[in-house]
Order: sequence, then C-alpha cells, then structure tokens
Amino acid sequence: MRAEIRPIISNREIAEGYHELLFEVDEDFRAEPGQFTTIRISASSTPLLRRPFAFASCADRRASIIYQRRGPGTELLAGKREGDELDIIAPLGNRWPLPSTEETAILVAGGIGMGPILFLATELQESGRPAQLYIGARTGDLLPEESFFGDLNPILATDDGSRGTRGTVADLIPKKFPAPPRFYACGPEPMMRAVHDIALELKAPCAVSMEQTMACGVGACMGCVIRLADGEEYARVCADGPIFESRELLWS
Ligand code: FES
Repeated sequence: MRAEIRPIISNREIAEGYHELLFEVDEDFRAEPGQFTTIRISASSTPLLRRPFAFASCADRRASIIYQRRGPGTELLAGKREGDELDIIAPLGNRWPLPSTEETAILVAGGIGMGPILFLATELQESGRPAQLYIGARTGDLLPEESFFGDLNPILATDDGSRGTRGTVADLIPKKFPAPPRFYACGPEPMMRAVHDIALELKAPCAVSMEQTMACGVGACMGCVIRLADGEEYARVCADGPIFESRELLWS
C-alpha cells in the first residue's frame, strides 16, 4: 500500500452517469482484481473523507476505476481532467479468489459493480480460463457501448429490455452447468443476494464484493463493518474484504 499523487490520463463518461477514470501508476505498482483505492477528491475539507473505488484495470503503468456520479464527491471527481492530479492510497483490500482448473467462473455485475468484475474477467481471459460474464442495469443508457467491453462478450440484461434481455441478470444465469460453477458478484445488494441464493442452491462457492462507506480505509476505525452469518460477529470491509465468500455474510 502506498500514498501517491498520480496524473490523470483521461476521465470520460462511458454510460449515463458512469465514468471511467484512467491514471498513471509507477512501473512497479500492482493492483489485483477485487482490490480498491481510496481517493482524496478535493484538497478542501469537502468532501472530508477519502472515497473508496474498486480498480477496473491495472496494466502497463495505467490503472482505472469506474464510478457513478451520485453525490457531491463524485460530481467533483467527474470534473477532473487529463493532467490533473489524483491523490490515492492503494492498493487496498483483498482480491477475488481464482477458480480452479475444473470450475467455470460465472461473473455477475450490476451498476458500478462493473469495474471489479471486468477486471477479473480480463484477468481470466488473459490466463485462458473459461468464464461467463453477465452485466445488468435498469436501462440500456446505463450500460457502456458494446465496444467498451472489447472481446469479453458480456450477456446483458436490463429491467426495461432496452438492451439485452428484459429482466434481471440473476434471471439469466443457467441453473445447470457442464463444469462445476464458481460465482462472482458485485453490484446492488438484491442482485448479489440473488446470485448468493443460486450458488447456495447449486452448492457452489460465491464471492461477493461488498461496498460500504469508509473512513480510514485501512482497518483502524471500524467504520465499515458488516455483520457475519452468525449474526454476532462483524468484519471490516476495508481490511477483511472487500471480497467475501457470500456464505460468511448475514443477508437481510
Ligand atoms: Fe476504517 Fe474500515 S474504514 S476500519
């Protein structure tokens, strides 16, 4: 983990309200799929806290995040331009577990869950492991153009049917697989819960990436805790996660 000021390469809108921010990193900087950075968005006291953002890529001295404009902090971030400086602490948190050679990886993303899932999908594709990628949104405007996904070939679903299949991504997931499935999910909690339920039914492992408001981002303040499955113990999303086996968590 290191604190750095890095120059922004680009900051572009990729779908309605969704941006991809690309920035330079040092040659020896490594972030793995699932890990995140915290960004101090403004030098002033507003917003006061650093914000966490999952990495969407990290290769060839460049890293990226995908974020949604949904408040004063991310509005400010959306105003940053090429050459502006980005104040980051990274890499933070754990990474997605890898599937075994016998398993088929089923990757499911909704909304800003796209970033960490696309990073994993790229890693799996580059290492020649089979994966099926599902991405869902409320409407087609909230999804990037097909070209953004390169040759990852996601299967798309929208609530209103304006892109891909009408319905939720969880509806699209087959219930039978030729090889044992291993599930990965990131996005709105109801979607992750639905994938968790499918994994339970199929007795398959399921990793989820949890989003939580953070203060310190490094495990010191207990500001990001979530409840574990026994209902009594807690885990820190920033330091124990953000990736958890879904069975370890308490789902409401
Ligand atoms: Fe402080 Fe996680 S944000 S412990």
